[in-house]
Amino acid sequence: MTGPLFQAHHLSRGFRLPGGRRLMAVDDVSFRLHQGETLALVGESGSGKTTLGRMVVGLTAPQSGSLTFAGSAIRAPRREVQMVFQDSAAALNPRHSIGESVMVPLVWALGLRRPAAEAQARALLDRVGLAADHFFARLPHELSGGQRQRVGIARALAPNPSVLVADEPVSALDVSVRAQILLLFRELRDERGLAALFITHDLGVVRSVAQRVLVLYRGQVVEQGPVAAVMDRPRHPYSQALRAATPVPNPDRQRPPVPRPPDLGDLPGCAFRARCPGAHAACAVPPTLRAVGGDHDVACHLAA
Ligand SMILES: Nc1ncnc2c1ncn2[C@@H]1O[C@H](COP(=O)(O)OP(=O)(O)OP(=O)(O)O)[C@@H](O)[C@H]1O
Ligand SMILES: [Mg+2]
Repeated sequence: MTGPLFQAHHLSRGFRLPGGRRLMAVDDVSFRLHQGETLALVGESGSGKTTLGRMVVGLTAPQSGSLTFAGSAIRAPRREVQMVFQDSAAALNPRHSIGESVMVPLVWALGLRRPAAEAQARALLDRVGLAADHFFARLPHELSGGQRQRVGIARALAPNPSVLVADEPVSALDVSVRAQILLLFRELRDERGLAALFITHDLGVVRSVAQRVLVLYRGQVVEQGPVAAVMDRPRHPYSQALRAATPVPNPDRQRPPVPRPPDLGDLPGCAFRARCPGAHAACAVPPTLRAVGGDHDVACHLAA
């Protein structure tokens, strides 16, 4: 197949807030994933990353828009599209041994009988760095955060997917453990030729995992393009602010956090207008995503 393996076309999803207001958590988002490619999805808390990820794997129904896998439209959850969840502890049944948790998708999605499922679950645990002889019968609470995240990865890989959504898989982990899990993620992606949507609010990890980046602000794509272009020369003022807020190794040079957005009911036009240092009259009209060269798109009236 020469085209993209997976495509999201104009996905939108709103939620009704207490008081009747409606929040567009994801607003007209499109992207493509080629086999073996990782797209990093970045944006601050509440920007719609998890909602988009859940729509990709079929756990949240889009309000509008569609998904294509290998050229065909898909609606319901698919074996080929799996997710590593943001909260690895909550995603595991506390009463199931981790071996049992990894066996469940092998039995249900692949239809394996228990002896074959157990053998495969053991092989998967070994592969993610959890010696099966030691870990198979353990309960989730006996594991560290990094070990639980390894279980989450094994479980997502069990149905042998070709597309993986990884929702902040390292955010809750210590720096040293984080590096190990990122390495495992890259190895597994390369071994299996997985296409991946890697969700993170930490720009620091983007370069080490992804080829392309999509920046979300309040559910909208404000910028997308190759990692080098977006990270080295972000064009959108929000991407620039995100990059400026990325922690640097030397704590003396620690950068300020991106200021929190004001409440949602605000100015018409560009969603970033109220926070934008360069906002001017033209920003009363919502900008559309436009190409700026090199497969790089920006939604900003100011971006050159
Ligand atoms: N089931 C729901 N009902 C109502 N509002 C929701 C629901 N799920 C998400 N939201 C709202 O949609 C917005 C986007 O949430 P989402 O969890 O997708 O953001 P996120 O980018 O993953 O944030 P974080 O970085 O904190 O994980 C938020 O304002 C959130 O409160
Ligand atoms: Mg989230």
